Amino acid sequence: MYIVRGKPIVGGLREYRTDSLSYFLNSALEAGPDADMLRFRIGFTTFYMPIAPHLIREILVSRANLFDKSKIDLRVLQPSLGNGLLTSNGNYHRRQRRLIQPAFHPDRLGAYAAVMKDFAADHIQDWRDGQEKNIAHEMMRLTMFIVARALFHADVRSVAEEIGTAIQDLQEAADIDLQRGFPLPHWLPTPNNRRRKRSRSILRNRLTPIIEQHRQGEQSDAHDLLSMLLSARDDDGSRLTPGEVYDQTVTLFAAGHETTSNALTWCWYLLSQYPHVEAQLHAELERRRMSTESTTTGGLSRIVSDADFARLPFTQQIVKETLRLYPPAWMLMGRELNTDARVGDYQFKRGTVFFISPYVMHRLPQFFENPTEFNPDRFTPENESGINRFAYIPFGAGPHVCIGNYFAQLEATLLLASIARHFRLELHPDQAVRPRARITLSNEGGMRMILRAR
Ligand code: HEM
Repeated sequence: MYIVRGKPIVGGLREYRTDSLSYFLNSALEAGPDADMLRFRIGFTTFYMPIAPHLIREILVSRANLFDKSKIDLRVLQPSLGNGLLTSNGNYHRRQRRLIQPAFHPDRLGAYAAVMKDFAADHIQDWRDGQEKNIAHEMMRLTMFIVARALFHADVRSVAEEIGTAIQDLQEAADIDLQRGFPLPHWLPTPNNRRRKRSRSILRNRLTPIIEQHRQGEQSDAHDLLSMLLSARDDDGSRLTPGEVYDQTVTLFAAGHETTSNALTWCWYLLSQYPHVEAQLHAELERRRMSTESTTTGGLSRIVSDADFARLPFTQQIVKETLRLYPPAWMLMGRELNTDARVGDYQFKRGTVFFISPYVMHRLPQFFENPTEFNPDRFTPENESGINRFAYIPFGAGPHVCIGNYFAQLEATLLLASIARHFRLELHPDQAVRPRARITLSNEGGMRMILRAR
């Protein structure tokens, strides 16, 4: 166990507030390759960060029943997301997950791929050579249109700005509570609470009609997620209550686009910095144009029945490598022991909190050689098999593993390929790159880039 030393009384509070990414990563680097777990003290809170893959496996998978999502994270997120999948535990979580899972079955992914390709083509129709775009904003809109259409059979193009801003504001409100370390009572009329209330009501006004249309059977696709949720019956014959359906809808809307849009933004940034990787991507796209034969048979391509996806092995590798360097979920939600227990070689009391950081794990030299280098070849089938399954965790693992994992990888790959066929994206000379680690990992101020037609 490596104890991270901080100032008396406040511990690492200042370092954490100024630059939490560097604070956690540097602490893990300092601890060295033999350390299995770090102990932090920030303000009055002590928590632990496992960095040995076997401990991560223990917490997320093999003994996951001993851990709940931490109370502090739930208190901060539930006012925004209610009791959706992301913010629930135990039997309630298992029941909801069972009902939602079929919408993410591999059989459904082929249909989603068609939506992704159509929306990407439509989105760049009016893009022109030399134009400047905030790519973070563009990717946010595009991924939101796609999740709305694919999962809810809804077209939100006319209200995307409003929904996007409301979701951003909810995230900001939760971030402010997290930075403070505790939420103020929600009935207090603080600016933060007022903003959250306003955003929740905007979302309610926009999402409720979509749910109602489904309830009244006005939507044709009986297989979309909402139709499934509305018709699902549990073993005892009970249905989801309207509140439960609403909470899952908000959760999937929020979790289903912001993360993928950040991943894509980082992909474009990295490609602009590594011309030889960009050239390899273009070469793959050229080959694909000339050949109709599948070139990949392994990995995710076996699961996703979309021919284009299967023919883009290098593009898939770019996405995986981007998720390594800039994992949008840079820190998983805290896990809290629900009983006294041993974890690895250490004994802990009930209530002890553990944080697992994909960002930290993905940048440790004991797991990745030259960890700061962008090198998609790490994910060729031969090389990928040598990566420790619990050192590369952009989607988490175990019962709470990201439900949209395949959806997101399919979407990022297809969008990258569809756009890169027509444009190269150059980083705007005035765009600073300063990763912003809040609930998700974005770039401060978005990502201004210049379109270059190909
Ligand atoms: C690149 C994109 C994405 C990344 C990096 C990502 C990452 C993650 C991670 C790390 C978790 C686990 C959190 C934890 O254990 O504390 C998670 C959970 C979740 N994700 Fe994703 N996600 C992505 C895309 C999506 C998409 C596209 C959807 C839905 C359409 C989605 C829906 C969810 C939901 C509902 C959960 C909660 C699952 C549960 O607890 O049962 N995510 N995601």
